[in-house]
Amino acid sequence: MERTYTYFKGEKDKEFNIASAKKYVEQKQELDKLLESLIAPLIEGQRLSILDACCGVGHLVYFLWNLSPQSSFLGVDQTPYLIEQAKELCRGRENIIFEVGDVYDLSVKYPKHFDIAINWKTISWLPYYDRMLQTLIAVTKKHIFLSSLFYDGDIDFEIRVREFKKEAGKDGFNSYYNVYSLPRFREFVYGLGVSNLQAFDFEIAIDLPKPPFDQMGTYTVRLEDGKRLQISGAVVMSWKVIRIDL
Ligand SMILES: C[S@@+](CC[C@H](N)C(=O)[O-])C[C@H]1O[C@@H](n2cnc3c(N)ncnc32)[C@H](O)[C@@H]1O
Repeated sequence: MERTYTYFKGEKDKEFNIASAKKYVEQKQELDKLLESLIAPLIEGQRLSILDACCGVGHLVYFLWNLSPQSSFLGVDQTPYLIEQAKELCRGRENIIFEVGDVYDLSVKYPKHFDIAINWKTISWLPYYDRMLQTLIAVTKKHIFLSSLFYDGDIDFEIRVREFKKEAGKDGFNSYYNVYSLPRFREFVYGLGVSNLQAFDFEIAIDLPKPPFDQMGTYTVRLEDGKRLQISGAVVMSWKVIRIDL
């Protein structure tokens, strides 16, 4: 199976991608707040080694540093212009390092090295999750936190998106928005020898406005029971946060 990630490939749509990601710094995302609440009891007052695998512009490291300023953080991403932004964001914080690189190479460089690894909003945008999970488990000693789109039933959905308005969509499909079967994911991860896996539903508590029709971007719709459905384009954004204990 091909394992390349195409969403931010090359310099295409660079300014748009940077601007979108920088919003996560300016206004903390609800999903990021959920990560903070789950991870805080594990990192506050501790001196740990923490990896953000596929860190984008480094906003999670930027926020988590406030909870554990004595820990050391490494953020890795394959997109050079995002790492440039991340370095700028965390300039002056010496225990934070950002590197351009392929996360799949980390298992050789850092076997069982990090106390905690995070892989945020990424595996749904990969062709599949298997190699990313193998890598995260290979480099981590204690806990992994990830977020992705999941379905409670025994079905995986491979969803491919082509945004014609983007430069990246001119040549063909430019992104995955896969939704993975949670029971199958659970079985796969336990098969890699982990001791525990917990899945947390993410129920958003704020309304998000609808972006233009020809642009992906999450908005909310109120349901009869008062809960909010999150939608991006034609895709239901069924987020879950997963905690894995090694
Ligand atoms: C959807 S973005 C999420 C970024 C960030 N975690 C966030 O929460 O905004 C996925 C990121 O994964 C990175 N990525 C995908 N595959 C990668 C790989 N094999 N090695 C390093 N980075 C990768 C991309 O460059 C992109 O920044």
